[in-house]
Amino acid sequence: MKTYGDLSPSPRTIMTPGPVEVDPRVLRAMSFPILGQFDPEFTGLMNETMEMLRHLFQTHNQWAYPVDGTSRSGIEAVLTSVIEPGDKVLIPIYGRFGYLLWEIAERCGAEVVTIEKEWGQVFDPREIIEAMDREHPAIVAIVHGETSTGRIQPLSELGAACRERDILLIVDAVATIGGVEVKTDEWMLDAVIGGTQKCLSVPSGMSPITYNDRIEAKVLRRKKIERGLRDKSASPAAPGRTIQSNYLDLSQLQDYWSPARLNHHTEATSMLYALREGLRIALLEGLEPRFRRHLLHERALVAGLAAMGLDFYGDPDCKMPVVTCIEIPAGIDGESVRSMLLEQFGIEIASSFGPLKGKIWRIGTMGYSCNKKNVLHLLGALEAVLIRHRADVHAGSAVQAALDVYADQL
Ligand SMILES: Cc1ncc(COP(=O)(O)O)c(C=O)c1O
Repeated sequence: MKTYGDLSPSPRTIMTPGPVEVDPRVLRAMSFPILGQFDPEFTGLMNETMEMLRHLFQTHNQWAYPVDGTSRSGIEAVLTSVIEPGDKVLIPIYGRFGYLLWEIAERCGAEVVTIEKEWGQVFDPREIIEAMDREHPAIVAIVHGETSTGRIQPLSELGAACRERDILLIVDAVATIGGVEVKTDEWMLDAVIGGTQKCLSVPSGMSPITYNDRIEAKVLRRKKIERGLRDKSASPAAPGRTIQSNYLDLSQLQDYWSPARLNHHTEATSMLYALREGLRIALLEGLEPRFRRHLLHERALVAGLAAMGLDFYGDPDCKMPVVTCIEIPAGIDGESVRSMLLEQFGIEIASSFGPLKGKIWRIGTMGYSCNKKNVLHLLGALEAVLIRHRADVHAGSAVQAALDVYADQL
């Protein structure tokens, strides 16, 4: 029989928009012994995780818990639980993940209406509000940080506008949570979906979400308790249209995360340890200092890339602080540069999707990967690789420019 070697993944410097490097304390947390999912010690950890998620999302919502699965499981759980067939959903799209919201909403039976921005830009909030007044949707779903284009959509005015019009606002903050301000309550966001593998620096496999009582009211109208769990007197039929997915049904998930602990899935113990540890570390650093750290390293990276003579992609006024997109210089094979960075330096940067494929590189400065060592290594390595590819770069300037940014900080 074939034998297989020991698992020994190479250490990497991961400068992509996710997944990024994981804090060793999170990896250690994942190696602790399993607890039963109804063990009071474990349910205590679940409750602590909910408390910490409320801080992370800057909310007083009762409901703040992770969905097991990658970030799109959180998105799909919210959309599938909230959207009833025929509901009109407005989706402003400015990149690949806006299209993902469309894909999912469509499968939920929504009547989807979209407005689109050229990639590299975001919407003026007034454009979205105008579309709301034209279309009268029940729900608006939008991405906060679009990793495909490295742009960030201002949200602070949208929540109040939705509230005035009795529209539910659902936000994909997968790429921003833990690295950039996301003020759930102040901005009046009804449901927010976060990601673990980006600015939180926890492996992929859970999606923290939060939602308020406006969302809960809609979900509860569709609630159905599983056969095998309900007592005989309970009505099996939900007054609204039953949520199609069992696994991603928020009405059942919230029962599982409530003191009732109604049995649903088997919680992913090691992932919960990881998330709890990642949240503990983020809150220990403090949200504001953490956001400032992300801004500092972005500044150093941008200064270095500019000094090298590279051109940036997209409108600078809406640049995402945790993702930097650069245009691949004319005549350079972007994939060859990425391969050399990985093979020779152990550094990973990202390519891009759809219309931007082969045109830009995307560099993430997220979570544990967002540090001075990584930024300086990447700048030095990228310069060397580009020279190797005979690109016209200003040799010797990039690392110096980044060092200047760091020196100004002292
Ligand atoms: C903005 C955004 N939304 C959603 C997703 C989907 O996340 P996942 O791949 O974890 O399902 C991603 C992943 O890159 C993302 O960047």
